[in-house]
Amino acid sequence: MDHDIKDITLAAAGKLRIEWAERSMPVLRMIRERFSKEKPLSGIVLAACLHVTTETASLVRTLSAGGAKVYLCASNPLSTQDDVAAALVSEGFNVFSIKGEDTETYYKHINACLDVKPNISMDDGADLVSSIHSKRQDLVKNIIGGTEETTTGVIRLKSMADSNVLLFPVIAVNDSNTKHFFDNRYGTGQSTIDGILRATNRLLAGSWFVVSGYGWCGRGLASRASGMGARVIVTEVDPLRALEAAMDGYSVMPMAQAAPVGDFFCTVTGDRSVIRKEHFELMKDGAIVSNSGHFNVEIDIESLEKLAVTRRIIRDFVEEFTMPDGRRITLLGEGRLINLAAAEGHPSSVMDMSFANQALASEFLVKNGSTLSKKVHKLPDHVDNEIAKLKLESMGIRIDTLTPEQEQYLNSWQMGT
Ligand code: NAI
Repeated sequence: MDHDIKDITLAAAGKLRIEWAERSMPVLRMIRERFSKEKPLSGIVLAACLHVTTETASLVRTLSAGGAKVYLCASNPLSTQDDVAAALVSEGFNVFSIKGEDTETYYKHINACLDVKPNISMDDGADLVSSIHSKRQDLVKNIIGGTEETTTGVIRLKSMADSNVLLFPVIAVNDSNTKHFFDNRYGTGQSTIDGILRATNRLLAGSWFVVSGYGWCGRGLASRASGMGARVIVTEVDPLRALEAAMDGYSVMPMAQAAPVGDFFCTVTGDRSVIRKEHFELMKDGAIVSNSGHFNVEIDIESLEKLAVTRRIIRDFVEEFTMPDGRRITLLGEGRLINLAAAEGHPSSVMDMSFANQALASEFLVKNGSTLSKKVHKLPDHVDNEIAKLKLESMGIRIDTLTPEQEQYLNSWQMGT
């Protein structure tokens, strides 16, 4: 099997959408031009488990321009854009992903990408790494290292490294400043609202919008919901983050207090069972519940199913659960990342920086993988700064440079005044 996708006839539509996305990805384009000349990934087999979107297509083309043989599967059963998968297959890439695939197919596709004995694993949520470690350790001898896109994946990998079970080095792309400052905050902020609105077509202005988790994603989501006129409530478990949310002007309270107030709820914590039985019991009729954290465990869907007397799908990605007392609670996108289930994920211009990090992380691994310890590593700061510089350039923004006098002043402990 060299690919498994929904429908190859969608390729033309996918190509057009990839072209549109690539117009907003100048940094990756510059990297691709250099990769085409220098071929830093020559001879490398790369397995990528990422959301199969237009932006990912651009990354795949870039890695391939660098000389890699790329195999792509989905990092979430609901996030695949079938037209993009078709477009990539029509260009000769090996893609294994179908939107809405069941769990068995999802893992069959992951294994198809592992069967090719990759030298680099590229993950969004650590599913490749965890499959290799749990079932396919024979593959480790071929692997130089891995890269990881998201917060939840990095947390999983750091805990493996801390327990000394990680068998190869991994670059935490998420930990680059040009990734989490922008992708998690502005990307998730905008695209999560986009997903909720596309699914529901509801008005945010004047509504109560509950954001669970005030990390990078939560900050972005709260600010965008507030910008559209919603009254934002933040729930947190970390005192510093909670304080920050309060000083940013949001109401902060426990979920049990927010539950009867919220019109919209969205979890972005990376944690499990953040909204659960006791909260569903308090919610008002019509409450709309969604998640934009990596896994579909942030909402305790099982308890919602048990509480409900009936359930029905009302629109795409909108399922209504009726409680014994007649209240209706609506779950969006099966509790999976709503920005990817009901919308198209992050806008391209933000993925430009995230995927610039992925491309440069692969190059970094090829050059330095053999010297890295079996831990989770950050990309060096100069790579991060270079991406920021290129992005500014592409936006036509210029900044000041330090004068020699300023440089000396900032680097010297002797100059007090
Ligand atoms: P983060 O670590 O910066 O923030 C998570 C926040 O959630 C922390 O402040 C933590 O204290 C809080 N939290 C944990 N348990 C909680 C609970 N029970 N109740 C309330 N708050 C709780 O993480 P970041 O970068 O914001 O990522 C959050 C999640 O979103 C992760 O799963 C990440 O992988 C995912 N993600 C999703 C994206 C998307 O496209 N939808 C994009 C980027 C990240």
